[in-house]
This record gives sequence, structure tokens and C-alpha cells, in this order.
Amino acid sequence: MNGKEAAGRKAIDEISDGMTVGLGTGSTVYYFLQALAEKMADGLSVTGVATSEKTVALAKEWNIPMVSLNSVSRIDVTIDGADECDPSLDGIKGGGGALLYEKLVAKASEKRIWIVDDRKKVEQLGHFPLPVEVIPFGWKKVQALMENKQYHPALRRNETGEPFITDAGHYILDLHLEKIQNAAALADELDHVTGIVEHGLFVDMTDKVLIGYPDGHIETIA
Ligand code: A5P
Repeated sequence: MNGKEAAGRKAIDEISDGMTVGLGTGSTVYYFLQALAEKMADGLSVTGVATSEKTVALAKEWNIPMVSLNSVSRIDVTIDGADECDPSLDGIKGGGGALLYEKLVAKASEKRIWIVDDRKKVEQLGHFPLPVEVIPFGWKKVQALMENKQYHPALRRNETGEPFITDAGHYILDLHLEKIQNAAALADELDHVTGIVEHGLFVDMTDKVLIGYPDGHIETIA
């Protein structure tokens, strides 16, 4: 057992029969999906709304039925990972590049729960580079703006050196900020830059965080 597995498996306690469940993305969510598939094999019935092509593939492999975000009127609960989480439950997401769909699904959810290992817990956000999803057209203009603001943007690339492309067909600029003094103010600023589709700051968008430790115990912040 590691912290991610402990948190991922614990999140199954949040799921009841008949729920529509937002399925996050990442290596911690992997353990949640595994636990969900096991419960479903024992008779639990839920419908999933996936936040990425990677999660769609895993859910298909494990026979978790899925519907699109457009076809549901509400999502009961979403279980997702995070890259950093502070004591007020604000966080950075998008290390895996799924931030846009993750935010859309989170906003449609009644309840949002993050599952993280203890290394994701921080006093102040910003050490993890903040992902900003930009449209490819004119992306260098957004990069230049971010450079002027001393946000130290770096275009995310894949293993072959090509720009990383999100599921929605966009690029990602990772902002190397080190410390974010005011997450709400920065989120608001980025929300208003033309060319930025979304950013990985999730402010006031989480109800509970399950933090898994290497010995298997769970700390809950709500
Ligand atoms: C995906 O884009 C991210 O927001 C993930 O939820 C986040 O990076 C956490 O991933 P891990 O659980 O793999 O650390």
C-alpha cells in the first residue's frame, strides 16, 4: 500500500448505489477506479462521467458504464486527484493535462472530493508548476504576456519533443511561480486573458480531501 492507493481505495466509501460519479484523472484515481470496478463486480451500480481519454480507456477496461457530461443533469460526487492542496482546500491540478475537463466536471458536481498522497499537502500553493491551457493559435503571445508578468511559462512537450496536446486540442504552458500569494486573485487574472482556455487553479471548488499516508492511514480535511 502507498499513500495514493490508500486514498484512492478510501474514496469508495463516498459512493452509493445509483449515483452518477465524476471520474477524475491520474495515478491516484487509478486506484479509485480499481476499487470501484471491484465493488461493481459485487453488485454496486453507478454511472461514470470521465474527465479524460485516459480515464475513458480505464473505465472501459473495467466495465464501468459511462455517459457524457452533456447527457447528465447532475453529478452526485466527483472523485479526482490534485497536484497540490493547501489548508483551505484550494489546489493546483492539471499535472496530467486534464484540467479543463476536470474543472467542467467539478463545476457540474454536487460534491467534490480530492484524493492525494501526503506529498501533495502544502502550506502555500505554487511550487508545483501551474498548468495553463492555451489555444494553439497565437499561443506565443500568451507566453510573452506570462513572461512579462514574471510567471516563467514553459510550453509543455511530450516525450518526442512535440508540444503536448490536451484532449480538447490545446497546448499547455506551465507557470513556474514557486509561491502563489493570492490564489483567488491569480485565478481571476488568468480567467480574463484572451487565449487562455482554462488554468489549473481550483479555488473554492473542493468539499473534502482524503490524504493517504505510506502506512495506509487517511487524514480527512473538510
Ligand atoms: C490531471 O490532469 C491532474 O489534474 C491530476 O488529477 C493530478 O495531476 C493528480 O495526478 P496523480 O494522482 O497522478 O498524482
